[in-house]
Amino acid sequence: MAFTNKSHFIMLFIISSTLILFVSALDFSNAPAEAPGSDDDGLLPLAEKHVVIRNKVKNREILNVHCKSSEDDFGIIHLPWNGTWGFRFHVNIWKNTKFRCHFTWHKGGSHYFYIFKVSRDDSAFGQIPVCKECIWEVGKDDENPICRIPREKENNSYCFKWEDGP
Ligand SMILES: *[C@@H]1O[C@H](CO)[C@@H](O)[C@H](O)[C@H]1NC(C)=O
Ligand SMILES: *[C@@H]1O[C@H](CO)[C@@H](O)[C@H](O)[C@H]1NC(C)=O
Repeated sequence: MAFTNKSHFIMLFIISSTLILFVSALDFSNAPAEAPGSDDDGLLPLAEKHVVIRNKVKNREILNVHCKSSEDDFGIIHLPWNGTWGFRFHVNIWKNTKFRCHFTWHKGGSHYFYIFKVSRDDSAFGQIPVCKECIWEVGKDDENPICRIPREKENNSYCFKWEDGP
């Protein structure tokens, strides 16, 4: 008799702990997948993006920036040294939105770069993390003059060469 009671008790214990595990698993699935403000956000389709460009050219000249896509043309912006300028847009439904910028500055030459392209900036399988706030510094280095920098702290920057050419 005592034995049966004990096994009942064990059975009850197993059932209730399974139930608790199940409930906590449900609870977990309701938790937000990602903390807001993380660097990897913005992967939703048609997500709003904010591109920011900072003038970091070594000789501290004014940086002239002219960015456009097939639909938008922001005109020529004259950016003082260490100043920023930016624009907002939504990635289109075909996910082929891209913005190309032309950069010129005194004794700095004339250079082009795709400041936003889905394959690099909005692809979960891209070589660098997806950005919502895509912050770029221009002209700090000769070898890899344009860098996407993390919004927070001094984490990884991703630096690239100019994309001159056609
Ligand atoms: C450049 O601007 C940033 C942000 O506005 C500021 O924190 C920093 O001190 C500036 N750097 C210099 C060298 O002026
Ligand atoms: C950002 O920096 C933190 C602290 O140094 C580090 O743990 C984390 O892995 C870094 N993230 C990336 C993407 O490098």
